[in-house]
Amino acid sequence: MPTSIQSLAGQLPALLRTFGFAAVPMPLLRLALLSLAMAVVPARAADLPALIPMPVSVTLTGGQFTITPATKVLHTKGDARLADAAAYLAQRLSQAFDRNIVAEATEATEAPSGAILMTTAGADAALGDEGYALAVTAQGAVIRAPQAAGAFYAGITLLQLAPAAAFRGQALVEDKLGGVLTKPAPRPCDEPNISSAKPVESLAVPCATITDQPRFAWRGLLIDMARHFWTIEELKAYVDYLAIHKLNSLQLHLTDYQNWCIEIMKFPSLTPEKALNAADPQRLANQTYDALARHYYTQEELRGLVSYAAKRFVNIVPEIEMPGHCGALMQAGLNVGCTIDGKQAGGGEVCPGDDHTYVVLQHILDEVLAVFPSKYIHIGADECGKGNWGKCTECRKRMQDEGLKSTTELHGYFVGRMSDYLQQKSRTLVGWDEILESGAKTGAIGMYWRSGQADKLIANASQNGQHLVMTPTAHCYFDFVQAPNKQSEPEGFGGNVITLKTAYQLNPIPTEVAKVDPKLSLGVQANLWGERMKTFPHVLYMTYPRACALAEVAWSPDGPRDYAGFFQRVKTQLKRLDAAGINYRQPTVIDQPE
Ligand code: ACM
Repeated sequence: MPTSIQSLAGQLPALLRTFGFAAVPMPLLRLALLSLAMAVVPARAADLPALIPMPVSVTLTGGQFTITPATKVLHTKGDARLADAAAYLAQRLSQAFDRNIVAEATEATEAPSGAILMTTAGADAALGDEGYALAVTAQGAVIRAPQAAGAFYAGITLLQLAPAAAFRGQALVEDKLGGVLTKPAPRPCDEPNISSAKPVESLAVPCATITDQPRFAWRGLLIDMARHFWTIEELKAYVDYLAIHKLNSLQLHLTDYQNWCIEIMKFPSLTPEKALNAADPQRLANQTYDALARHYYTQEELRGLVSYAAKRFVNIVPEIEMPGHCGALMQAGLNVGCTIDGKQAGGGEVCPGDDHTYVVLQHILDEVLAVFPSKYIHIGADECGKGNWGKCTECRKRMQDEGLKSTTELHGYFVGRMSDYLQQKSRTLVGWDEILESGAKTGAIGMYWRSGQADKLIANASQNGQHLVMTPTAHCYFDFVQAPNKQSEPEGFGGNVITLKTAYQLNPIPTEVAKVDPKLSLGVQANLWGERMKTFPHVLYMTYPRACALAEVAWSPDGPRDYAGFFQRVKTQLKRLDAAGINYRQPTVIDQPE
């Protein structure tokens, strides 16, 4: 008997067609089908492999396929991205077996016996850019995906069908990174999770038919190097860990008051030697790698990161903060501040009145665009103090000339000008939800972060057809502690607590947006702000397992969410993280399902 799970609620129209229930009143029918789903799914789900995120449809067909070092990993010729997807699977298998397994190109569109094949031939186009069909039989595995990204994700699913050792890897240990741990960080959360997984001889995978595609296109995390500098090796590891959760976007918070972390060729004063131009001494107190030569990335290093991420189907979104959070920029002597009483004013905001500001910032963006091919370019635009603007001669003139009634409208003018600039370069501006407050142009993307406070803003923005990404403080701020116990938890930001369950309860389409058009929500993102982060294992401890919850919200179909079932699957996922050498917080009593 095949065992299967499907999002029955999502399948309603198809079921109706199949069973010809058109004459039955819809609410009754929906109720009947939902109770059927609830009666059937938990019992069967328990028999299914612990996949995270849960795919759209899984059918176990009986028997198993055994992957060994002799198993060929094939991809149909002529698609470089498919070759990347196959190379990643081969690389993970190489680590699991401790043997060198290399993916091979083939003319074949069916797997020869004993092989794994990735192909776009015969794929169902309806699976979209990131969907896939995976068929595992006793003879082998065939992955059909309309695009290479789908094949990549099918590879991850195949690895999850196998025992946890399929994810065997090595923790990043700080003294291997060129930096030396100079300050003691004695907390358990700072200890790397050293994998004790031994190489295996074979990996048994249950025979199954899986069809899958993500619910959302934006499935992201943010990491903050302006408050705690992370090495490129750490960022690469972070990307790798994202990818095995089918997350596909990493936002880099590259600039803020505390530091400017990207080399800009034209303005070397932004990155002085060691770049320790900290307005905030706390940043240095947090920094455990004082032996690093510098605290910024060269453009070359960032290009390396972008291409590493692309091979894992992760897009890197750079965030260059403006017009506020510009403390480090203001220290670089580029004269982008307001002029008050004939003098350059202090503060962390640039002057939106002066054309020179746009010349400098647009040049910076030009260099940023040359490093990051991302369609999405984040300009922050949050928490901008506007006190100087009301007193600045240039700002007041700008407001008069443009008919702007307030400094909030001046903020909107600034964002609009940057949005136009990026649009000319075929990129799309992304900003925190303050861009909605000040009238961002349709076409820009707002990141909802101020839980509750920004509800009205997003309701209005949806009426204007504005897209958004959900990253509310109430569910997605992973720098907040995971449990209220101050003795056992490393210090988090503020007094807020986001448990694993809270992360799982994120609603990715707020009611006000759903009423207008659910498709306006592009997806979800969680943020690892750096003010309280001390070591790389610590940032991983804050990320996992909450990012497992985020991944499932972002990927799995809509429908009633079963935390108890998810929690069971997380236990298996944590074994995979152990095998991979990824640090995480061990769930405690607070995380138990009721
Ligand atoms: C933010 O947390 N200021 C976006």
